[in-house]
Amino acid sequence: MSLNDYLNNNAPANLASVIQGLAEAAKVIDHLVRRNGLAGDLGSDIGGTNSDGDSQKALDVRSEEIIIEKLQNTGAAALLSEEQDDPVPLSPSGDVIVAVDPLDGSSNISVNVTIGTIFSILPSHGDAAANSLQKGRDQLGAGFFTYGPQTTLIMAFADHDDVACFTLDPDQGEFVLTRSGITIPETTKEFAINSAYANHWFEPMQRWMADTLAGKDGPLGQDYRMRWVGSLVSDAWRIFQRGGVFLYPADQRKGNETGRLRLVYEANPIALLAEKSGGKATEGTKAILDIMPSHLHQRVPLFFGARSEIDRLENEHR
Ligand code: AHG
Ligand code: MN
Ligand code: MN
Repeated sequence: MSLNDYLNNNAPANLASVIQGLAEAAKVIDHLVRRNGLAGDLGSDIGGTNSDGDSQKALDVRSEEIIIEKLQNTGAAALLSEEQDDPVPLSPSGDVIVAVDPLDGSSNISVNVTIGTIFSILPSHGDAAANSLQKGRDQLGAGFFTYGPQTTLIMAFADHDDVACFTLDPDQGEFVLTRSGITIPETTKEFAINSAYANHWFEPMQRWMADTLAGKDGPLGQDYRMRWVGSLVSDAWRIFQRGGVFLYPADQRKGNETGRLRLVYEANPIALLAEKSGGKATEGTKAILDIMPSHLHQRVPLFFGARSEIDRLENEHR
C-alpha cells in the first residue's frame, strides 16, 4: 500500500495533505543527504546559531527551507521550527500547525550516520502564531523520517491506534507501507544513553543505571546491552522496530539542567508514537504529553520505550 492510499484510508483530509507535503520534503532532503560530500559538506557549520544556541549546519537550514516550500497550500497555518525564534506563517486559512526538527542528529551529517526529520501536527486555534504552544496530548498526529540505509517514515494519529512504518522505494520514488500495528515490548535488555555524562547525572538516574549495570547478578537478574547512535530518530527507529528504552536525562552540566532534547518538536512527537505503541514516555515523574510548554524551545529530560523500564525509572524519581 502506498503512503497516499494509507492516508486516504486512515487520516483526516487536513492531516493527509500536510503529511504528503512533509513526505515530498523528505524526498528532497533525502536526495541531498545521499549526495552529501560530492560537492561540499552539508554538515559544515554555517556560522550561525539557532535560537536554542546550537551551531547551525548547512543541512539544518536547507531542510527547513525545503519543508516550508512543500508545506505551502497544504492547509498548514504556521510552522514551528528548531531553527526559528518565532512561528513561520503559512496559509492564513490553515487549521493545523506543524512543529519540526528539520534535521535531527546534525552532528552525524558529515559522517554518514542516520539522521532524520521529526514532525508534530497540532490544531490551530485562530491566530496560529499566538496560540501555538499546546500540550503534546493535543497533537493530531506525529512522526519522523530517517535518512539512513533505508529512507523511512513512522507515524501515528491521535484518533487512530495504529503506528505505521513506510519505506521510500528508490525505484518508484514513493513511500510504501512496510509495517503497521507497531508495539514496543513491555520488557527489554537494550538501553540507549550517552554514558559520557554519567558523572553529571542526578541521583535517580545514577541508581537506575547502577541496577542495570549490575546485570544478572544484580537486582534485575539480567544482563543488558547498550546502543547509542547520537541521532534521536535513529535510536527511536530501532526501539520501534525491536524494543528497548531511550534515556536522555537532565544532568548537572551547564545548560542541561532540564535536559538536552526539546519538548515541542522532539519529545512530544516521539512520546505520541511511544504511547500509541504501548510504551511510555516521561520526563521522570510526569508523562511528556501532559507537559504544558512554557516556550517553543523548552528542553525536557526524555525517557521512552519499554513500559517496565520506564516504570522502574519513575519509581527512582519518587
Ligand atoms: P539535533 O541535531 O536536532 O540538535 O538533535 C540532536 C540530539 C538528538 O538527535 C540526539 O539524541 C542527541 O542530540 C545526542 O546528544 P549527545 O550528542 O549529547 O549524545
Ligand atoms: Mn534533534
Ligand atoms: Mn535539529
